[in-house]
Amino acid sequence: MKDKVENIKRELVNDLENAKTLQDVSNLKVKYLGKKGLVTELTSNMKELSIEENKEVGRLSNETKNYVTEEISKLENRINNEELEKKLNSEKIDITLPSIKPSVGSPNILEKLIEEVEELAISMGYDVVEGPEVEMDLYNFELLNLPKGHPARDAQDTFYTDSDTLLLRSQTSPVQIRTMLENTDKTPIRIICPGKTYRRDDDDATHSHQFTQIEGLIVDKDISLANLKATFDIIAKKLFGNERETRFRPSFYPFTEPSVELDISCFNCGGKGCNICKGTGWITVGGAGIVHHNVLDNCGYDSNKWTGFAFGFGAERLAMLKYGITDIRTFYTNDLRIKDNFDRKDAE
Ligand code: DAH
Repeated sequence: MKDKVENIKRELVNDLENAKTLQDVSNLKVKYLGKKGLVTELTSNMKELSIEENKEVGRLSNETKNYVTEEISKLENRINNEELEKKLNSEKIDITLPSIKPSVGSPNILEKLIEEVEELAISMGYDVVEGPEVEMDLYNFELLNLPKGHPARDAQDTFYTDSDTLLLRSQTSPVQIRTMLENTDKTPIRIICPGKTYRRDDDDATHSHQFTQIEGLIVDKDISLANLKATFDIIAKKLFGNERETRFRPSFYPFTEPSVELDISCFNCGGKGCNICKGTGWITVGGAGIVHHNVLDNCGYDSNKWTGFAFGFGAERLAMLKYGITDIRTFYTNDLRIKDNFDRKDAE
């Protein structure tokens, strides 16, 4: 028995030296430890032995089994490690190569500003509504108290379609008309309407034939300029900081009476006068006024009972002031390098 064990061990040393692959290892497992393997065979004649001999054979075969199992598994580990090493070497990644910087998107700056105004308006009880960009002359001008031939139309020379009744809206104010007409119950109204507008223009740093306005309208009882002033004040402070002052300047719009220009104290110089506010200390961001009685009556709101205020902001104007953008064309030319500037300014 002892000789048999010695023979197995000797043969194993030889086999282990020759084994190179995992397949060889698996063959060795079968050869030594399989059902008919050399180690298993050590116990094949146990039935014929005495109890004493049986114990001895059992002990020796167990020892041998453990020894062989351990030796084969050491070899298996070694071959496994070698193969892994080989794989790692052949698939080496050069981590010193500079990587390509992934470009990260960010919200459109104009959208972001509009959403900020919308959120604020919603918190003050306004609904956000939309209107079509191809509009009727009737809504864009006539019912807004700008009949055909009215000289104030010249300031909003726009793009007509084939007929002279359909045009690209020159302002978001027609949404006032649509909302009042649609509200057949003639209940109070409180809306803002952001959207694209169009005017024939020679594009430059401060003019664009397509731009964006944010319209506002309240129709209710006993609305006064004081309500308008308070509302404007809240919007200006939310967008530009609590230290901003607001003021009205007399103006003219056919659809409001009285009409005002909406000014905020210059965020750059704080009102002292600088090149941004052209030395005046104030920056104009929109127009507004008390809704003209003709407009109310045109839309079925009896002007003896109802009053209202309306305003219109230039959305690009607000965004340019807020983010320090100097050219309105920046919003439409899709130059992605500009985006990084916005991100940086926004993070400040
Ligand atoms: N629609 C005007 C414009 O485009 C801006 C404006 C002025 C809107 C006064 C209003 C308003 O609602 O009341 O120049």
